[in-house]
Amino acid sequence: MGIKKNLLNGAGIVSLLFIASLVYHCKNGKTESDYFNPEILATHFNGEQFVGSETCLECHADIYTTHLETAHYNTSAIADSATVKGSFKGGANILDLKDVSFEMRQERDTLFQYTTIKNRNVDIPPSKFDIVIGSGVKGQSYLTWENDELFQMQTSYYTPLDNWVNSPSFPTYSYTRPIGDACLKCHMTFATNKNTGPGNQYHKEQIVYGVDCERCHRPSAKHVAYHRNNPSAEAAKYMLKLETLSRQQRLDACAQCHSGLRQELLKGTPFSFVVGEDLKKYSQNYNAAPVDNSKLDVHGNQYGLLTSSECFKQTATMDCTTCHDPHKNQRGNAVYFNQKCMECHTTDSVVCTVETSQINEMGNNCIACHMPKMPSRSMTVELDENSPETPFYVRTHLIGVYSQQKK
Ligand code: HEC
Ligand code: HEC
Ligand code: HEC
Ligand code: HEC
Ligand code: HEC
Ligand code: HEC
Ligand code: HEC
Repeated sequence: MGIKKNLLNGAGIVSLLFIASLVYHCKNGKTESDYFNPEILATHFNGEQFVGSETCLECHADIYTTHLETAHYNTSAIADSATVKGSFKGGANILDLKDVSFEMRQERDTLFQYTTIKNRNVDIPPSKFDIVIGSGVKGQSYLTWENDELFQMQTSYYTPLDNWVNSPSFPTYSYTRPIGDACLKCHMTFATNKNTGPGNQYHKEQIVYGVDCERCHRPSAKHVAYHRNNPSAEAAKYMLKLETLSRQQRLDACAQCHSGLRQELLKGTPFSFVVGEDLKKYSQNYNAAPVDNSKLDVHGNQYGLLTSSECFKQTATMDCTTCHDPHKNQRGNAVYFNQKCMECHTTDSVVCTVETSQINEMGNNCIACHMPKMPSRSMTVELDENSPETPFYVRTHLIGVYSQQKK
């Protein structure tokens, strides 16, 4: 708020508008009046319109800047040599599987996957890398267009080994998988499917990449237009106030993507839910009945695990933002997270009961012992023929006492 206040006075606002319109003109080559009515990237089923995070820059520069560094913002993008992390250099550009091998080649600015079926003489046209899924913290998968149909490619990238791998749950022979909304819903802000059912045909130009501002704050065209036309207005207009939502609504804002696959649709499409609504009316997991929480997978179900933890059950206000600032990349910031634990665990009744020497040995790192990294059962990759099931490690959100500790 401080930054914005300063910018919003006198000379500040004039130069700000000037810069903003300059940026806008360079990018879009349109007339000045278009500035007051931002370009619409896509329209949600509820009629609200997406304008993209670039339009937020002029008024929320601090949040915009740190947002660009988050895994959320970078979790999907148009594929190019900057966004694709896998190597196209000779020697490092091969994935060799049992019945098929792949070679990744860069031809001018375009990236391709070439497929060779072993022991058979079939010609398979190369697939172009069109879309990247995954920020690359753990890995990336890639999608390719065939006209307006979207498919997942067989090669993925695995960050721990800096290498190409067979995509999770793909067979060892040549295969492409049609990609519908059920896959894209957690890695994109919005995609405009041409079908009402599970089809894989999209309006290519109406995809909003990354988990962008408007996925958590709802499509914001009206908010932007209002504040551009009313630069002296200080109170937010046409904007949901997340701070005032109920605990469950705030949890749902994250649970739409962090509570399992929620394959069972009860209403609309996988992209229909918007923050502020009741998520359980839209979708649920198969086996939605209470399960043994030790069976929840650490991958993608932080909501289910956290809400099973005593920390959550025995407090009235804990939600995801108790520990996470959704606008910042906080990965690896153990000091910050341990402080969050200490905000509650300093009274006599709930302090750690393990030997002080053991705590010191772990560098006072609460999360190393109580939220250890655990192997995912659902997210595994095949590194080569000999190791078909290598799991990704994800930090569990079932906060508790564990015998095995992995830092
Ligand atoms: C032309 C200026 C302007 C633009 C562009 C703009 N906002 Fe705002 N926004 C404001 C003002 C003014 C406020 C009210 C002061 C505050 O809360 O910081 C605000 C407040 C907010 C709030 C807090 C609401 C609340 O009451 O707590 C959110 C969230 C928000 N904006 C999101 C966005 C998003 C997302 C975008 C881009 C899609 C965006 N804004 C673009 C001016 C703007
Ligand atoms: C539209 C789906 C979606 C929503 C909504 C969403 N997330 Fe995520 N989140 C993801 C995906 C996908 C990733 C993995 C990104 C990657 O690395 O490619 C992720 C990653 C994360 C990470 C790990 C970041 C890192 O540095 O690796 C945290 C923490 C997180 N989300 C917290 C939250 C919180 C808190 C909320 C709610 C305020 C939230 N998410 C809402 C989809 C979502
Ligand atoms: C229900 C939401 C959801 C769906 C559906 C989903 N993902 Fe994810 N995905 C996540 C979350 C959350 C993470 C990271 C955090 C974690 O592991 O829990 C992630 C991580 C990833 C990563 C690793 C990113 C990184 O570097 O950390 C890749 C690659 C990926 N997903 C690809 C896919 C593909 C391809 C599909 C569709 C076939 C898909 N995901 C469907 C939520 C989802
Ligand atoms: C992963 C979800 C998520 C994304 C993405 C996200 N926000 Fe937020 N934002 C939140 C949540 C949750 C809060 C409320 C924080 C709280 O209550 O502690 C919030 C609060 C805000 C606020 C008001 C409080 C403040 O910190 O000033 C503004 C303004 C805002 N967001 C703007 C943005 C803009 C602009 C972007 C994109 C550049 C963005 N947000 C991206 C979840 C998100
Ligand atoms: C909002 C307050 C709050 C925060 C933040 C918090 N906890 Fe807790 N935690 C509690 C409460 C309340 C209990 C239940 C107290 C009791 O058992 O008497 C609890 C219980 C626990 C337990 C015992 C679990 C069990 O199953 O018996 C452990 C271990 C724990 N917390 C560790 C942590 C760690 C590690 C963090 C930081 C990642 C953390 N807590 C953050 C409030 C919190
Ligand atoms: C008590 C504190 C706390 C709460 C509450 C919390 N988290 Fe976390 N979360 C952490 C810590 C600590 C990490 C590990 C960060 C790191 O590795 O640097 C983490 C990591 C993550 C990751 C990345 C996991 C991985 O290993 O790739 C995701 C995704 C995530 N949190 C989502 C959520 C969501 C969604 C919620 C709400 C349902 C939530 N978190 C609530 C403390 C918390
Ligand atoms: C070396 C690993 C380790 C570290 C580091 C550690 N703990 Fe523990 N903690 C344990 C073990 C083991 C227990 C169970 C001890 C027992 O059975 O009495 C425990 C118990 C607890 C309990 C439950 C107490 C009760 O009576 O229910 C809480 C709360 C807790 N720890 C919080 C923390 C916090 C907060 C931190 C960081 C300051 C922390 N722990 C650091 C291993 C650790």
